[in-house]
Amino acid sequence: MKKLTYAMTVLVVTMVFSVNGNELDTTLRLKSQDVKVTQQGQKLFEQICASCHAKDLSGGTGFNLKDGEWVHGSAPSQILSNVKTGFLNAGMPGFEQVFDATQIEAIVAYVLSKREGWDNLTYKLYQLNGADDTDVTADKLIKSGELAKGLADFAIPEVQHYFIEFEGDFYAPKDLDTQVWLQWGFPHELKVYINHKQVTKGGTAWFPTWRLERGKQHLKVTYRSGDTKPNQRDLILIGTNLDLTVKLFPLSSKAKNIVEEKKFELKASDHILIQRKRILDLPPSTISVGFPTKVNYGFNTKTCAVVGLWQGDMLNVGPNIAGRGEDPSLPLGEWVFHAPEQLQHVNEEHKCHYKGYRLENGNPVFSYTLGGQQYALSVETKSSNTLNFIYSITGNQPIKLKIPETSNWQWTHGLQPIERQSALLTPKQNGRVVVTATATATVKE
Ligand code: HEC
Repeated sequence: MKKLTYAMTVLVVTMVFSVNGNELDTTLRLKSQDVKVTQQGQKLFEQICASCHAKDLSGGTGFNLKDGEWVHGSAPSQILSNVKTGFLNAGMPGFEQVFDATQIEAIVAYVLSKREGWDNLTYKLYQLNGADDTDVTADKLIKSGELAKGLADFAIPEVQHYFIEFEGDFYAPKDLDTQVWLQWGFPHELKVYINHKQVTKGGTAWFPTWRLERGKQHLKVTYRSGDTKPNQRDLILIGTNLDLTVKLFPLSSKAKNIVEEKKFELKASDHILIQRKRILDLPPSTISVGFPTKVNYGFNTKTCAVVGLWQGDMLNVGPNIAGRGEDPSLPLGEWVFHAPEQLQHVNEEHKCHYKGYRLENGNPVFSYTLGGQQYALSVETKSSNTLNFIYSITGNQPIKLKIPETSNWQWTHGLQPIERQSALLTPKQNGRVVVTATATATVKE
């Protein structure tokens, strides 16, 4: 008797919980569309969770939180409960004691709002009569199912001639235009439909692209084997930005490793780091320097200008790791400025000649000549909010600089504010001009 009562109690309790779960799921989904809530969530996420899950949620010590794969449950209420209790054995503390209920809901809402990729993805496989058969009819359907990982699996068909379709809800970034990119696409007969309308193919024959919409949409991809060879059929479908410089998210199983492999973060933890890798948004031939104080700059060896400055960790080196890839590295923090805004010499007639850098206590000093003058530039920082750009000049000629436009940062020489367009600065006795950049407000409030 007792046992039965207990079982019934459990049953009732479970039912109450699942009803609450559904309500909570709805509440959290609604909150994920409320920018005010997600902004609060973003702030907390970046302060607390990003160290393990990465600022872009792509994972680090902790799992990727924006793909379709959830190890501990995908329902918003389950995610909420996981954040509250954590996974102590695996290294994630619980946050129930750290944040109040509204804050945790905001964090979960933010995580939900960053979702990328397919949801409720299903496939249908049709067997065709030969390489030329284009007649896809219901009687040729041989297999169908769900793909829990949200990735189109082009390795499913065992038959030689087939037509396969994948479809489901799809989440593309809300704040960025993206496209589907097919690596080694020619001569594949791939078609893409968004909200049941076929999308025009762009890009090139070998690397075709199809433009996605922002945010949530219905996405269908179809593929007919035609006369392709079986070993060419496990297609690599990747979501990229429009200028094809960043691989963002995988759409097919074969693409998953390629997108994940590209993550390799460079952080200047105890000494200054110097990198020659190409960086997104900075011109080629830029050497970047990262300080343990979490501030970084790029010096361009073609123009002898400081072409970028960012706060935070240094770089996601991406597939440039071991020189394999062609993709640029991504700065990990927030830009203070980047080219075309730059700290540069005002020199219409003269071209700069870069000579190289030497290290002073691990800090690079770049030297170059310009209009017959010899210059050396080094940067010193004591915190991520202030930097000294130290120009050493032979002779006592004044130096003429153009200062980049920066919101929330001010530029001074000595204690004087600097004229931005063209500042004529006279060196001190020691032949040095020191330009100081100081954050006037923290970048994000
Ligand atoms: C100290 C590192 C660390 C911090 C900080 C951290 N996590 Fe985690 N998180 C992990 C690890 C490790 C796992 C994987 C647990 C496992 O292996 O089962 C994880 C798993 C998760 C999962 C489950 C993912 C799944 O696939 O089901 C969620 C959700 C999550 N974290 C959210 C958060 C949020 C939100 C925060 C900030 C409030 C946060 N985490 C802070 C390390 C961390």
